[in-house]
Amino acid sequence: MTDVRVARLDELAEGTPRKVEVDGFPVVIVRIGDSVYALGDTCSHAEASLSEGEVYVEEKEIECPLHGSTFVLESGEPTCLPATEPVPTFEVVLTDGDVWVASR
Ligand code: FES
Repeated sequence: MTDVRVARLDELAEGTPRKVEVDGFPVVIVRIGDSVYALGDTCSHAEASLSEGEVYVEEKEIECPLHGSTFVLESGEPTCLPATEPVPTFEVVLTDGDVWVASR
């Protein structure tokens, strides 16, 4: 397992998802405060890109743009139908203002 540098912390706007690639795998990263969360970008329900969805900063959730399931940023668990399976989560490490995501 290696870490991949995907962004600078100060270039990420809070609550604005960004799609990145980690070893060829699409990942969505979301900054909230000084924390960054990383999830698999593809919805667990069908072929939709979570990075095109809306982030709910207070709830720390991201909404799928296609059918509206929301996923917990910390766990990847869906909070409502139609998705029933979680999306994968990735460890994020912040060093000197750089955002690193651990590959799998
Ligand atoms: S594709 Fe995401 S909820 Fe259906």
